[in-house]
Amino acid sequence: MESGSGPITQFESSDPNKNKSCDEAFTLGKMFCEGKTKVVYEINTKTPGRCLIVSKDIITAGDGAKRNVMEGKAELSSATNAAVMQMLNDFGLKTAFIKGVNKKSFLAWKCDMIPIEWVARRVATGSFIRRHVGVKEGYRFSPPKLETFYKDDENHDPQWSREVLEEAKLKCGKIVVTPDLIDIMEKMTITIFEVLEKAWKSKNVSLIDMKIEFGVRQDTNEIVLADVIDNDSWRIWPSGDKRLMKDKQVYRNLKEVTNGDMQNLKENYTWVSNQLTAISEALNEDKNSVRVAVCMGSPKDMAHCNKIKAGCTELGVRCTLHVSSAHKSTTETLKMLAKIEDEASVTPTVLVAVAGRSNGLGPVISGNSVLPVINCPPPSEQWGRSDIWSSLRLPSGLGCATLLDPQAAATCASQILAQHTPLVWSRLRVKQMQYWIDLKQAN
Ligand SMILES: Nc1ncnc2c1ncn2[C@@H]1O[C@H](COP(=O)(O)OP(=O)(O)OP(=O)(O)O)[C@@H](O)[C@H]1O
Ligand SMILES: [Mg+2]
Repeated sequence: MESGSGPITQFESSDPNKNKSCDEAFTLGKMFCEGKTKVVYEINTKTPGRCLIVSKDIITAGDGAKRNVMEGKAELSSATNAAVMQMLNDFGLKTAFIKGVNKKSFLAWKCDMIPIEWVARRVATGSFIRRHVGVKEGYRFSPPKLETFYKDDENHDPQWSREVLEEAKLKCGKIVVTPDLIDIMEKMTITIFEVLEKAWKSKNVSLIDMKIEFGVRQDTNEIVLADVIDNDSWRIWPSGDKRLMKDKQVYRNLKEVTNGDMQNLKENYTWVSNQLTAISEALNEDKNSVRVAVCMGSPKDMAHCNKIKAGCTELGVRCTLHVSSAHKSTTETLKMLAKIEDEASVTPTVLVAVAGRSNGLGPVISGNSVLPVINCPPPSEQWGRSDIWSSLRLPSGLGCATLLDPQAAATCASQILAQHTPLVWSRLRVKQMQYWIDLKQAN
């Protein structure tokens, strides 16, 4: 299918696991907008509010002043974007991406686009150091530096300050871009940058900066990450070395574009697409790569333990449940611990001890293991207040922690384990962002 030609094509999805509303067959409707690198089509379907975005084999720079055909770019861009967006959806971020349809196109929630480019930077380079004379290339921003640019090719996308953006009161679909919505998009931009930075770090590649766009979903009026994130959207430096850059900056830097240059660019774009496929596969495997082992003193504590398990599962942490009493089956408790410790040499593990009345379990396993232990005693009506001391007051030399809420125990254990896995780190980060947004909206 070529951009602009718009033949009616039947797309059928073959993925039976996906949400039904996203999965029904559709036919291609009319083209409703065409940009430099993509064409967007209406689709005819029972479920409204979606569109088809088709990539083109075009690379541009300087707001379109420089433009080349790059054979294969549409496929590489689609694959890169799909890997990134699926990853972000999996972390719990709201994006317009629904699913890939074929090698050059994907199904998306149809948005009214907010005409702002949101830029996040970890390292100062490029236009930033030209605009901020005196700041050396390589200066690190912590937290990432945010900038906003109004999308206006003719005027070379002027930078807008926070104040200009507020005063513009941009109208997009049914919403007006208020200071609160700007705060939310800023928060989302930083979070998206941080999780992508973590993902790239797993391949020893530094994410230097990134630009993204938001849209307002026409069906729900939600603000979502829209457009695409592909190799044109960021600077990435393998090993943090600028000379090894693999992104569109290589093209921007070319004075004249030779066939050899185009070949080199294509190799870079292919490398990036392959790396992202590998990163997203590794993230899927990450789902079982760290573990919380919940030891309960009695099977009566199962309901409490299942709440801990649910909290872990949501964050991508494997959770195993064990029953053993440190008082009544001490030898079995130590055997169970020895097995968990052995497995922990392959799978980083946090222990959670669930024991009511007199909690011997947590302190005993803590005193016999180097693994971190969190006590999470089940609530008890009768002696609850006094029982807690058996978890809090420890023999000298011990260091187990105590959390009363099963969700809190799951969160704390996952935070300890997050250092080993970008998946858990990212899900926690996105959850924190979502709390922040929910509280702001509630206010
Ligand atoms: N989910 C979506 N719903 C509706 N429109 C979208 C969506 N995602 C992207 N678009 C729009 O598709 C158009 C084509 O994208 P493309 O990036 O090629 O445009 P462009 O030439 O770069 O122009 P722009 O400067 O607006 O990005 C853009 O106007 C973009 O805003
Ligand atoms: Mg664009």
